[in-house]
Amino acid sequence: MDVLEAIKRRRAINFFDPTKEISDETIKKLLELGTMAPSSFNLQPWEVIVVKSQDKKKALRRCASNQKKVEDASAVLIFIADPEAVEKNLDRVLDKNIELGYMKSEGREATVNAVYGLYGPKDSIKRKIFAAKNTAFFAMTVMLAAQGLGLETHPMDGFDEEAIKKEFGISEGKIIPCIVALGYLQPGVTLLPRFRFPVDEMTKFV
Ligand SMILES: Cc1cc2nc3c(=O)[nH]c(=O)nc-3n(C[C@H](O)[C@H](O)[C@H](O)COP(=O)(O)O)c2cc1C
Repeated sequence: MDVLEAIKRRRAINFFDPTKEISDETIKKLLELGTMAPSSFNLQPWEVIVVKSQDKKKALRRCASNQKKVEDASAVLIFIADPEAVEKNLDRVLDKNIELGYMKSEGREATVNAVYGLYGPKDSIKRKIFAAKNTAFFAMTVMLAAQGLGLETHPMDGFDEEAIKKEFGISEGKIIPCIVALGYLQPGVTLLPRFRFPVDEMTKFV
C-alpha cells in the first residue's frame, strides 16, 4: 500500500475483532517501521509497552475510561515519552553521528550545548514538550505503518495517566502522550464518514 493510500484509509476504529491475534514478530516489525520517525537531534525519546494479555488489557481498560476497544483490540500500545532521554541517549547518538560521518568530533561540545540550550534542565517544561512531541511523531508513524501492514488502530488520550503508570510500573517523570489500540476491524461494521475542516480555513500562504 502506498503512503497516500495508508493516510486515506487510516481511521480511529471503535470496533475491533476480539478473536484476532497479532504475533510479537509483526508488532516488532511495526515498531521498527515506527522508529523511522524523525526526532529532535535523533534522540528518540520514546518507549513502548505492548499490552497483549487479556488480564493486562482488562487492567488497562479500567485505567482508560472503560473504553471497550482497549479490551477487544489484539494489542494496545502504551507510548511513553522520556524527558531524560537527553541524558540517556545523547552520548550514544553523538558517537554514532561521528562514526557515520554526520559530524566531526570537534563539533561534539557545540551540539551538547545546543541540546541543553534548547531543551533545558531535566525537570523543565521544555523537556516534557520535547519528549511528548517526538513520541507523538513516533506514534503517528506506527499508525500509518500499521495501515500499510493491513492493521487498524485507534489513538486515545481518554485515560488516567497516573493509574496507567502505577499499573504498568512506569516511572513518575515519564509522560504517556497516547495509547493506541491495534487490531482488525470487527466483520460487519460500517464506518461513519469522516469530516475535516477545509484547508482554506486553517491555512495562510505568506
Ligand atoms: C491524541 C488523540 C487522542 C484521542 N483520544 C480518543 C479517546 O480517548 N477515545 C476515542 O474514542 N477516540 C479518541 N481519539 C480519536 C479521535 O476521536 C478521532 O481520531 C477523530 O474523531 C477523527 O476520526 P478518524 O481518526 O477516524 O479520522 C483520539 C485521537 C487522538 C489523535
